Amino acid sequence: QQATKIKIREAVANRGRRVKVSGWVHRLRTQGKDMKFVILRDGSGYLQYNHELSADYWEVIHKAPGGDDAFTNKLNAEADPSVLYEQRHLVIRGESSSSVLRVRSQIMKAFREYFDSRGFTEVNPPCMVQTQVEGGGTLFDFNYYGEKAYLSQSSQLYLETCLPSLGDVYSCSESYRAEKSHTRRHLSEYSHLEAEMAFITFDELLNTIEELVCGTVDRVLSHGPTRDLVYQLVPDFKPPQRPFMRLDYKDAIKYLKEHDIKKEDGTFYEFGDDIPEAPERAMTDKIGCPILLCRFPVEIKSFYMKRCSDDPRVTESVDMLMPGVGEIVGGSMRISDLDELLAGYKREGINPEPYYWYTDQRKYGSTEHGGFGLGVERFIAWMLHRDTVKECCLYPRFMGRCLP
Ligand code: 4AD
Ligand code: MG
Repeated sequence: QQATKIKIREAVANRGRRVKVSGWVHRLRTQGKDMKFVILRDGSGYLQYNHELSADYWEVIHKAPGGDDAFTNKLNAEADPSVLYEQRHLVIRGESSSSVLRVRSQIMKAFREYFDSRGFTEVNPPCMVQTQVEGGGTLFDFNYYGEKAYLSQSSQLYLETCLPSLGDVYSCSESYRAEKSHTRRHLSEYSHLEAEMAFITFDELLNTIEELVCGTVDRVLSHGPTRDLVYQLVPDFKPPQRPFMRLDYKDAIKYLKEHDIKKEDGTFYEFGDDIPEAPERAMTDKIGCPILLCRFPVEIKSFYMKRCSDDPRVTESVDMLMPGVGEIVGGSMRISDLDELLAGYKREGINPEPYYWYTDQRKYGSTEHGGFGLGVERFIAWMLHRDTVKECCLYPRFMGRCLP
């Protein structure tokens, strides 16, 4: 009988037929004298030879060093994390690492399906730029044919320029931040899903963020094989419930006081202080559900953020916070008035010259508009309960590691 070449995922559909399967030995167990159990892996699934497959012919394609001392056996959960990052090309062959990457692929697809179903156009802004978006402190610079240039922190400014041309737009590009501290949620290079919409209100912006997050989770779980992986990784996963809690920054400051969450120097956070990662996480974990934290003071936010009409000390801005991770999304309404934007540059000490193209948006058909950016690795760390964003991308980049 002629053997049909199949992927392991097609094994069940081919029950009883003579098939040809190619793969890598995932695990090899010897039982008794000469009983060998082989689990094969081909990227589409796992197959246990003897149990699920009886072989009448087999061939070793390539032999790797094996046995109890094999180096690869030591790449387990007990290994030093730095070894795991150094050997990530081998680690990703493991079950949980590869499951995370597989779910990630479906999450990316679901993000795109969400935006496509709402008529957004995907664009691909450049990653080599000469302007900053989120402050000079985290810029990576490089020599661009003798001129100074930077790696993009965010595509936002470019997305804004697309509105009069394409209408609502989104992008998923790599963003770069020179983060000089080691945390569970900071990478030097991360995947940044960003969207920008014209003719919207702040409330509509908040609704879109909520809908994107819940819609993505629903889509991912509606795909059978991916749902299985999600529940293998997080047996008690519960999709978030809408509407998300909306909390104003000023009330978060109050919350921190009431719950005795203090600064390192023992004093309380006051209006105007940036809420760093630790207190933000402490608050989010205590509250235990998604939060849309709104209306941050002008001084702690970027130059482009629109002020609230009922309180010019604060901006129409939002951070979406999730238990276990904290901030996953940052967004805002943007300044649409030319003079206000020029004042924003001045306040932040930004030279407006290289921003002429961004400023032009406020001269030629300026409208109310807003958008947001979502950190893909943080979303995955939240959804799949990973300890760190470093486990949520293929080859993490962070201070001290740019290999493999
Ligand atoms: O809050 P951020 O800095 O906002 C912006 O960049 C806006 N310009 C986006 C926009 O409105 N289009 O970054 C957005 C998100 C954060 O909420 C976080 O999830 C993620 O990007 N992020 C990082 N993820 C991993 N490593 C880092 N170093 C990150 N910095 C930001
Ligand atoms: Mg932010």
